[in-house]
Amino acid sequence: MRTQVAIIGAGPSGLLLGQLLHNQGIANVILEQRSGEYVLSRIRAGLIEAGTADLLDRAGVGARLRREGLRHEGIEINFDGKRQRIDLQKLTGKIITVYGQTEITHDLMEARSTAGVPTIYEAAGASLHDIATDQPRVRYHKDGVEGEIVCDFIAGCDGFHGVSRQTIPEAALRHYERVYPFGWLGVLSETPPISPELIYVSHQRGFALCSMRSFTRSRVYIQCRLDDHVEDWPDERFWGELKLRLDPQSASAIVTGSSIEKSIAPLRSFVAEPMRFGRLFLAGDAAHIVPPTGAKGLNLAASDVYYLSQAFAEFYDTGSSAGLDGYSDRALARVWQAERFSWWMTRLLHRFPEDSGFDRRIQRAELEFLASSQSAQAALAENYVGLPY
Ligand code: FAD
Ligand code: DHB
Repeated sequence: MRTQVAIIGAGPSGLLLGQLLHNQGIANVILEQRSGEYVLSRIRAGLIEAGTADLLDRAGVGARLRREGLRHEGIEINFDGKRQRIDLQKLTGKIITVYGQTEITHDLMEARSTAGVPTIYEAAGASLHDIATDQPRVRYHKDGVEGEIVCDFIAGCDGFHGVSRQTIPEAALRHYERVYPFGWLGVLSETPPISPELIYVSHQRGFALCSMRSFTRSRVYIQCRLDDHVEDWPDERFWGELKLRLDPQSASAIVTGSSIEKSIAPLRSFVAEPMRFGRLFLAGDAAHIVPPTGAKGLNLAASDVYYLSQAFAEFYDTGSSAGLDGYSDRALARVWQAERFSWWMTRLLHRFPEDSGFDRRIQRAELEFLASSQSAQAALAENYVGLPY
């Protein structure tokens, strides 16, 4: 098979890149190791920046998000039993939208199959070859038969554990990493949200986040131990723990119910530089991970893919590789801003087991400063709603 851009991974990065390239008349094939149903079953991000929503519109897949997404003008930070609202709309003029990653993936999959652009699901053992030449290739197995895609470029959109980044010679990449000493236990349940706006909670028992997917569906996370297992957290224990971490008014608004999904995610900050080797370009979680506290992972994936699609369009329209040569620096400038903010939000709101009494006092002083200072709130809001592309 021959194409212009071979895309590895049908997560949000790969699907959105495929859609943007198709709209620009650039042929592409996506190779995904899992089935479409499996990709859709992964419950992950929920918070969409205005810039990401605009990009989905531009890609022609934003209509349902505009119709069904929940528009949020503010969030709450809850500590010492107090509730501090951050008025995103007033402070930045921008809002955010709650719309599940699963829904975005669904919309992109549907647009792709309607347009008849090929995706090869359940492609096993993908391997990348000749990535430093101008005719790279991807080999894979499907139903026991070997396949090969010959292309001009490869886009590695295969997430943190994918094969693309691992194909780059070790000496050509620098890694920056921080692993946090706790995880997030996430629960999806068919119960109304605890509050109309998202609540981020800093509590001595640990962080909590009350989010939602609709007026009847809650998405809630609590900080847990790294060695915790989902089986350690039956629903009653989960709701009981959440109640202990919330202020009395929010706690009394909890409607408990059985969970539809429950999972534990470790927290990590990670960046691989540069985001290119030869004709292989990395985008999204394949190149960087942020702890989810700042809600930046999916939004960063979208900005990478936007820059990359522009660079490919420039190459095919004019023959210039300036955009491709500048891609890594352009994307990384934004990535590091999101890394900084996500690290800061994580540090501000979680209970770090190794913290001394001094560290805890500093953390509380920072929260009090945030509650009393308009400019501190404005800085948080500016980063939270998303920096311009
Ligand atoms: P992925 O979603 O990981 O997709 C990669 C795809 O590549 C997968 O489908 C995988 O099966 C496939 N693949 C892997 N290896 C291969 C291979 N060898 N061959 C073929 N295919 C392969 N972000 C936000 O912006 N806002 C939020 O509110 C938010 N909340 C989050 C909450 C949680 C609990 C978690 C865990 C994450 C959250 N994120 C959030 C982050 C967001 O989910 C990710 O950043 C996003 O999924 C990245 O998309 P991606 O397409 O780059 O990677
Ligand atoms: C959600 C996840 C996040 O990590 C976050 O910061 C906000 C919302 C969510 O899944 O709704």
